Amino acid sequence: MEVIARGAEAVLYLSDGVVVKHRIRKSYRSPELDEMLRTTRTKREARLLALAKRAGVPAPVVLDVDLEEKKLCMSFIRGEKLSRLVDGMEEEELVRVFTLAGELAGRLHRSGIIHGDLTTANMLLSGKRLHLIDFGLGEVSRSLEAAGTDLLVFRKCVRSTHFNHEELIMDSFLSGYRRSFEQAEQTIERMLGIERRGRYFEHRG
Ligand SMILES: Nc1ncnc2c1ncn2[C@@H]1O[C@H](COP(=O)(O)OP(=O)(O)O)[C@@H](O)[C@H]1O
Ligand SMILES: [Mg+2]
Repeated sequence: MEVIARGAEAVLYLSDGVVVKHRIRKSYRSPELDEMLRTTRTKREARLLALAKRAGVPAPVVLDVDLEEKKLCMSFIRGEKLSRLVDGMEEEELVRVFTLAGELAGRLHRSGIIHGDLTTANMLLSGKRLHLIDFGLGEVSRSLEAAGTDLLVFRKCVRSTHFNHEELIMDSFLSGYRRSFEQAEQTIERMLGIERRGRYFEHRG
């Protein structure tokens, strides 16, 4: 058993070539709430991973779900987190990869899938392919607000993590997004609206 990541929520390890995402107990939550959250997120992640694949978005294959143990087994993606690759990429490669990322986000939204944590740490680049992972905070929704929020999470990630390439990344991402999602324009508008509202409340706050 080889641990591959220890996040805030889960420990991920390799077991017989398969990735196990084990959501561990959090002692700062009440036991009932903790149990409920770990079950819901495990279930949700399994369901959304399967839906994402059906929507044409590369993602790990769900192999098993154990709701008692809060364990999700999925196929191992040989690759690297996009967040760690950005700084070493040529402009041309950035354009290609982020256009693809936007296209995948558009495919999700077109199918009513909200990722919930759309960041470059949740995108794995494997050769030329980009896989999306970490759907535990996602949902199925057709609302503009949900999709706009998804986009804003991505934008905030790019602003804070990849600020030296912000424009190139956002332009590429949104062009891919427009390519695969008919309601891209409205959704982008909504993202900007949510951002303005956020600023307004921050200033009042
Ligand atoms: N199917 C997978 N194949 C390969 N690596 C994975 C896979 N799933 C997760 N990882 C690795 O584990 C890390 C954490 O997984 P993730 O699902 O994002 O959990 P967290 O909620 O802790 O962020 C990822 O950033 C990635 O490096
Ligand atoms: Mg993650």
